[in-house]
Amino acid sequence: MPKIKGGQISILIGTRPTLIKHAPIIRELERQNVPFFLIHAGQHYSFEMDRIFFRDLGIKYPKYVLKSVRKAKGHGAQTAEMLRGIEKILLHESPRAVLVGGDTNANLAGALAARKLHLKVGHVEAGARSFDWRMPEEHNRVMIDHISDWLFASSTEMKKNLLKENVRGKVLLTGSSIVDAVWEHARIAGRKSQVLNALSLKSKQYVLITIHREHNVDAKASLERILKGLCLVSKQLGVRVLFPVHPRTARRISEFGLKKLAADHAIQWVKPQGYLDFLKILSSARVVLTDSGGIQQEASILRVPCVTLRENTEWVETLSVGANRLAGIEPGMILHQTRKALNSQCDWKNPFPAGASRKIVSFVKKECYR
Ligand code: UD1
Ligand code: UDP
Repeated sequence: MPKIKGGQISILIGTRPTLIKHAPIIRELERQNVPFFLIHAGQHYSFEMDRIFFRDLGIKYPKYVLKSVRKAKGHGAQTAEMLRGIEKILLHESPRAVLVGGDTNANLAGALAARKLHLKVGHVEAGARSFDWRMPEEHNRVMIDHISDWLFASSTEMKKNLLKENVRGKVLLTGSSIVDAVWEHARIAGRKSQVLNALSLKSKQYVLITIHREHNVDAKASLERILKGLCLVSKQLGVRVLFPVHPRTARRISEFGLKKLAADHAIQWVKPQGYLDFLKILSSARVVLTDSGGIQQEASILRVPCVTLRENTEWVETLSVGANRLAGIEPGMILHQTRKALNSQCDWKNPFPAGASRKIVSFVKKECYR
């Protein structure tokens, strides 16, 4: 079938989670012959946060990459640098629409640049709300949703949030494209990944942890509480803990002089993992402790009990089906919830149906090329 002619669809990426949630959409655009190009806003740049995902997801590294963004310090400077760079590219390319995905600063910059140029903006993962105004991500979600034309909600709860807030754009319940990413890659990971051997791990004999939220890791007291909680888990539950450390967290652990705290116990620190290895590590874990949004969803899809190290979550359906528990960051509570998770059944109903990417792309194609 010949490719559709005319202005393209611009796909905005810039961080690890955005590339993962856009990957199945990119593949679907290819399948449906919709012309597109990628803009990499450059928020994440280290090999293990960036290039490794293009390799694992089989996506060509983009022509447009904003390399100056890594030098910007602070939310304002970072967002401004991305806004400036994205605007230039959009002016040059004149796409028919811009798709952003999630709640990072890169997505805000992309949506804002497009809005100011009167381009159509589509928000993948619209309507996610923690109602926690401390989170920079919550600011971004609200702002992006209120300037988007098409709001692709991941769940009925998220659709409800958008309708309650009376957003201007069209709200569509599509589901979450992360589900498609998991199903497209979990089997490949199962076949290809040698990570368990490489890290001397045995399936279902370890607990996995990831943390990177600003309010969890940027204050010494909070980070210390979480690490103490981990020590309790490894000591009192006698379980091995695997800790792929996000670069923000690594920096804070070293700045706050906290490395020794966790190093005394059976905690295995490793660098952030590529997508295939991470899916293997996650699906083979007994329990995952996390403050990540994507990992809460992936765990419920892969039937791994999750303990969320926050007081709230946007992914409320993971709580209602019994796949996830909120622990906050008090060490005793982390221990208590991890013990409960270790003893729990993994027989919940998967709350996230597949197929979001096809729905999103079919809609965009109809809107832009009819
Ligand atoms: C960002 C997002 C967060 C998302 C997370 C995914 C915002 C406000 N935050 O947080 O919502 O969950 O990405 O991982 O958009 N760094 C590196 N290499 C990199 C990237 C970061 O070394 O490739 C270090 C730098 O020291 C940087 C720090 O990590 O200053 C924080 O990076 P940044 O992108 O600002 O925020 P994240 O914590 O990654
Ligand atoms: N992830 C990964 N390697 C890691 C940690 C996470 O591939 O070492 C993946 C994970 O599978 C999920 C995504 O990164 O799809 C989540 O990203 P992150 O936790 O950084 O951001 P959030 O989802 O909280 O915005």
